[in-house]
Amino acid sequence: MQITLELIVLSLWAFIPSALAAFGVTTSSGKLVVDSGAGLVTTVNTANGDITSMLFNGKQLQDSTEFTQLSSGLGSATVTSSVSNNIAIVTIRTSTITHYYIVKSGINTLYIGTYVSAEPTVGELRLIARLSKSSLPNGVMKNGEYVSEINGATAIEGSDVFLLNGQTRSKFYSSVRFIEDQVHGVTGSGVGVYMIVPGVGYETSSGGPFFRDIDNQGTAQQELYFYMNSGHEQTEAYRTGFFGPYALAVTTGSVPSGTLDTSFMDNLGLQGYVPASSRGTVSGSYSGTLSGQPVTITFNNSAAQYWVSGSNGQFSRNLMKPGQYGVTLYQGEIAAATGSVNVNAGGTSSITLTSSLSRPSVIWSIGTVDGTPTGFLNANNIEWMHPSDTRMSNWGPITFTVGSSSASSFPMAQFKDVNNPTTIKWTASSSQIGARTLRIRTTSAFAGGRPQVTVNSWTSSAPPAPPSIDSRGVTRGTYRGINQVYDFTIPSGTLIAGSNNIAINVISGSSGDVFLSPNFVYDSIELF
Ligand SMILES: *[C@@H]1O[C@H](CO)[C@@H](O)[C@H](O)[C@H]1NC(C)=O
Repeated sequence: MQITLELIVLSLWAFIPSALAAFGVTTSSGKLVVDSGAGLVTTVNTANGDITSMLFNGKQLQDSTEFTQLSSGLGSATVTSSVSNNIAIVTIRTSTITHYYIVKSGINTLYIGTYVSAEPTVGELRLIARLSKSSLPNGVMKNGEYVSEINGATAIEGSDVFLLNGQTRSKFYSSVRFIEDQVHGVTGSGVGVYMIVPGVGYETSSGGPFFRDIDNQGTAQQELYFYMNSGHEQTEAYRTGFFGPYALAVTTGSVPSGTLDTSFMDNLGLQGYVPASSRGTVSGSYSGTLSGQPVTITFNNSAAQYWVSGSNGQFSRNLMKPGQYGVTLYQGEIAAATGSVNVNAGGTSSITLTSSLSRPSVIWSIGTVDGTPTGFLNANNIEWMHPSDTRMSNWGPITFTVGSSSASSFPMAQFKDVNNPTTIKWTASSSQIGARTLRIRTTSAFAGGRPQVTVNSWTSSAPPAPPSIDSRGVTRGTYRGINQVYDFTIPSGTLIAGSNNIAINVISGSSGDVFLSPNFVYDSIELF
């Protein structure tokens, strides 16, 4: 058979399409096709804004039946595009949402901005990329496991926590604290797709620096998320406005920089977008926090939230929208001081914060006053395992002996149905008895769970129920809720020189089963 020159040219063309493809947007019936000119070709459905195809050097990254979209799809939307100065903008509009996909010539990244004037009726705001499982089989890995891979798994709680090959799995276990979340992604052979968090941070989201939300779930698709807000143990009100710019970056596998240069977007006229030149800075100093504890300073109001780490008593946070902000100084994850500051465009304001967190001179303590259960039994696994996971250590009930037990044997959480009570044995000297305070700090609670204590033959009164959050808590991979402090005033004559028995019980007017029974998470216990 004779091979024509034409056939040779055609087959060469098939091998190197992206090298020859031109940057720009082409429209045809029902779709827009955006070509980065560098290998990424993205198709958007003009009826509803779904991304229906993402070809990267000829490899299909988008799932073919479930698409990439806001929420679970917008139903219908108005989709338009424009190209100028080597920047392509696809704009997707509904009555309350303006969503942008922006592509720069020569860069395989979708720069994304989402403006909402109202919270979506589904009660959360997220971008979900439902990607091809065969092209991108590898989801978020922690401790060497794909913690959010649930394909073929059996649901064990709330249709979102599963058991797969003897291990508990959940999309919640892919989450990391906002303060650490800069880039998260999924990979396959020769390809990676990464979500890059905005350079201004989770500015329009809610929950502060220690909140965490879903990044990934492996089903028949490989789901990659940017959660803008949700009720996943949310402690604050939602914000509306412009979320981003964030990005979906496609690489040949390497992790892209978590720092997104979005300065080119300052002049694009995006709805709700505030350019760097209209933002301000707060610098300041702090003192009085426990040495060895990370320090974070947060700023928030109804429109925005920011944070920055402190170091050597100093901090400086830039790129804040103008306005008045409440300021909180955190020792670990516990509030130690508050203040208020005004941010002006182009200016630098200052504030001084001094910890007012109570630091009693203790007779003994268990754990650290840091708003986390770090160091306690099972605390190292709780962020990526259900408490029922067989890899968890036995929850007890635990008996802890002051002076000989280590903090790692003290339970990070106490469940009414599982490990109730926790007993503390303490041999006191004659100078240590008398009227004392037992202080129990907790980081979250579920179903009204709070502690009540019995010291020898004396039982404390029952503290009122903690503020409730409309969410499951510690069973979905987080210890972070609303910090509480319970001070139990032990009357004189209760403690004895010699062996004392302190029982901590979970009490609640509500009920639930096993790990969904009333519970709370410990931060620390102090006796003084
Ligand atoms: C600001 O942060 C504080 C401390 O976390 C919180 O109690 C408050 O609800 C937040 N305010 C807003 C408007 O989110």
